[in-house]
Amino acid sequence: MSNSNPYQDDRGNKDRSITNPAGQGTAELRRKSGPVSAAPDTPFLIGDSMTGGYGKGPDILHDCTIAVDRGEIAVIVGPNGAGKSTAMKAVFGMLDVRSGRVLLDGEDITALTPQDRVVKGMGFVPQTHNIFTSMTVEENLEMGAFIRTDDFRDTMAQVYDLFPILKEKRRQPAGELSGGQRQQVAVGRALMTRPKVLMLDEPTAGVSPIVMDELFDRIIEVARTGIPILMVEQNARQALEIADKGYVLVQGRNAFTDTGKALMADPEVRRSFLGG
Ligand SMILES: Nc1ncnc2c1ncn2[C@@H]1O[C@H](COP(=O)(O)OP(=O)(O)OP(=O)(O)O)[C@@H](O)[C@H]1O
Ligand SMILES: [Mg+2]
Repeated sequence: MSNSNPYQDDRGNKDRSITNPAGQGTAELRRKSGPVSAAPDTPFLIGDSMTGGYGKGPDILHDCTIAVDRGEIAVIVGPNGAGKSTAMKAVFGMLDVRSGRVLLDGEDITALTPQDRVVKGMGFVPQTHNIFTSMTVEENLEMGAFIRTDDFRDTMAQVYDLFPILKEKRRQPAGELSGGQRQQVAVGRALMTRPKVLMLDEPTAGVSPIVMDELFDRIIEVARTGIPILMVEQNARQALEIADKGYVLVQGRNAFTDTGKALMADPEVRRSFLGG
């Protein structure tokens, strides 16, 4: 990590324009007295006590809760098959949630389709198939802006500022890029809607440690612009290091939930999930 303590400074961003106008300025809002939303005590995004599975299949999630608050990075870790991606899909509306609910800024969105959730301000980068490989980098970003009817060139410029290599490669088919660059395309695509919250499923999958560090730095940068981030990570240690909140999922259940720091220090979490 190039910046060992990314949160020591004011997390306000110099340039907030990448954020959704309705979602921006939460730091300022927090400093003012009085409630900032209808449900000030509820996390900004929460999949609350979710139970459900795929189609008519068995439940994969059992009373599972994941959430992220304003100004925060929340990280979900756990063994393969624990249900991390399933929990993300449930929050994004891609799963039949049999009980439990999803709240965005205090509003119950459990019944909304994924597309309606995007309109409400959710950005989601799935674990696989998260870019159009035959389209150019720029076309991918344009596709990301599909819900917008306004001029999105400023947002595209901001994505290129965040990921300069994408500007260089904007005319290349995204499928020709390296793994780390493809993940940048995927994150950039999600940012094109100016989301109020960003969900990332294993954004550093299959990249080298150096590229992973770089991606984490960019993710921290995005969080600093005022976009809360809920992400799944297989690089558990590194991810918990930058996490305000961490969730360890095991067999579709919450096994441990705490600050990233506390989870890193917990002997049982260390032994079972962080390799000692
Ligand atoms: N589309 C699907 N249809 C049916 N079952 C599925 C589907 N996707 C996942 N599952 C099952 O749900 C369980 C949880 O899988 P999930 O992909 O959520 O785990 P994960 O924690 O994301 O794992 P990984 O670390 O490998 O990404 C597994 O038993 C898996 O086989
Ligand atoms: Mg997964």
